Amino acid sequence: MDDVYILGIESSCDETSASIVKNGTDEIATVILSQIDVHTKYGGVVPEIASRCHIENITIVLEKLFDDANVTIDDITAIAVTYGPGLIGSLLVGLETAKTLALIYNKPLVPVHHIAGHIYANKLVSKFNFPLITLVVSGGHTEIVLMDEEYSFKKIGSTKDDAIGEAYDKVARVIGLPYPGGPAIDNLASTGNDTYDLPYPLDDDTYDFSFSGIKSAVINLVHNEQQRGNEVNKADLATTFQNRVVSVLTKKVIKAALEYNVKQILLSGGVAASKGLRGELSKLCEKNNIELVAPPIKYCTDNATMIACAGYYAYKKGIRAGMELNAVSTKELTREER
Ligand code: KG4
Ligand code: ZN
Repeated sequence: MDDVYILGIESSCDETSASIVKNGTDEIATVILSQIDVHTKYGGVVPEIASRCHIENITIVLEKLFDDANVTIDDITAIAVTYGPGLIGSLLVGLETAKTLALIYNKPLVPVHHIAGHIYANKLVSKFNFPLITLVVSGGHTEIVLMDEEYSFKKIGSTKDDAIGEAYDKVARVIGLPYPGGPAIDNLASTGNDTYDLPYPLDDDTYDFSFSGIKSAVINLVHNEQQRGNEVNKADLATTFQNRVVSVLTKKVIKAALEYNVKQILLSGGVAASKGLRGELSKLCEKNNIELVAPPIKYCTDNATMIACAGYYAYKKGIRAGMELNAVSTKELTREER
């Protein structure tokens, strides 16, 4: 059988990225140009600036990709692109680039849901063992998804308000840590003690989550301490916050794995880089005889490698888009994703 080379393009937020992956699992080359430095001074991503940066970066990224890779555009089987969800102005840059390349070089265009990409980043390290459960934890999503076959997604629970990454970033901002706050909180959390009185967020029998309550609790606690003239112990607060959210995330995903009788859990999304979350979940998985798979740290946050991996499986399923494909800012990951 001929090898399938997918060119993936991702520009949904503040990373401009392109990648070539062979047969859905073998990374040939990847370029990720992050705009973190540009947005840090604003404390978060500024959408208008993000889309302008994507425009400046996209051709540089593609040129570097083909310089690095030992393949040419002629070797590419299909072009996979993130069409949503994300920031519209940002998405459009990658999308129009992919459409233009597909048109000029007469290649099939494969639309990829950003979250399908995060899930399929796990193909870089492991085979999927169906049925499986994946915990999606990113800046925009917190979901438990059941997969009983390749490229089929059934959401069994999700956040009712903030995404977990959003909560990490907000808590970091309140205690004076730079954007993006997730890695900063995660690093501090390994140095402190669990001393603060914070609630366990939506610690119930459902598979849903809620992080706005614990976020508000941290904001109130910091303001109260400031009014009393007390210093907040940042490391202890980071430790307590991370312990609470990790406790509920891991408890619910293990419960789902047991209820649906799955033997494999995939971690997906930017917060999958958290050492605290990985550590606790791997302990619980070992205890319950479940295999835990997590992407390489570099491919937990946004990148085009995951889009090319997902794009291969979407391509194999016959998922295609025409030149009318448009970007969408919000869209559920559906069972028959297309
Ligand atoms: O998946 P991602 O790159 O973008 C979205 O699709 O949203 O996720 C970004 C999120 C940010 O909220 C960031 O703070 C968080 O992932 N994050 C982390 C870590 N690394 C990135 N959160 C906790 N611990 C980390 N090590
Ligand atoms: Zn993402």
